[in-house]
Amino acid sequence: MIRTQHLVGLAASILLATLGPLAAQQPEANLAARLMEDLMWNRGPIGGPFALVDHTGKARTDEDFRGKLLLIYFGYSYCPDVCPTDLQQIGLAVGRLGIAGEAVQPLFITLDPERDTATHLADYVTLFHPRLIGLTGSAEQIRRVALAYKVYYAKYPPGSADYVVDHTSFIYLLDENGKYIGFFPPGTTADRMIEIIKLDLRFRSKN
Ligand code: NI
Repeated sequence: MIRTQHLVGLAASILLATLGPLAAQQPEANLAARLMEDLMWNRGPIGGPFALVDHTGKARTDEDFRGKLLLIYFGYSYCPDVCPTDLQQIGLAVGRLGIAGEAVQPLFITLDPERDTATHLADYVTLFHPRLIGLTGSAEQIRRVALAYKVYYAKYPPGSADYVVDHTSFIYLLDENGKYIGFFPPGTTADRMIEIIKLDLRFRSKN
């Protein structure tokens, strides 16, 4: 049976109702709800600097990507359903943008650094787009960047070697200065992302 591994509710109440296993763990569920609320109501700073390692083993910081619109997705390569679906749409969007797509850099930040080593990510990211960059790091580095983006994630079942990672799965859009613009909800199609990115690129070229 495939469990619902992504927190896609539109309000804290929906979130708590759909969390299933996490609902039994009240503090965890509260944290998930609070992070999601902060993101949805645009509360507090979203995003920030990071220092990680890419899927080729190269050290990368957020500053390396200045000058590009960033599409950032948090997930993990063993995710059975939502991550691959969203990453596929991100890859299609960047591809279908053609030349304009060169202004967009897609990033995949793992929430499972123990299993998603750089080498492992190298095999994974190429499935979605040749320019998709996979990023990993220490557990602490990942925790820091995830919290900066209000990403909730937790291993389930806790303590198991064969775990899944429950996680929120929004697609973040950042401007060429690394400033957070907004998010696409999970399940956003490539065509919808393209419409919005094109509007954004057009707006930027006029200003
Ligand atoms: Ni996932």
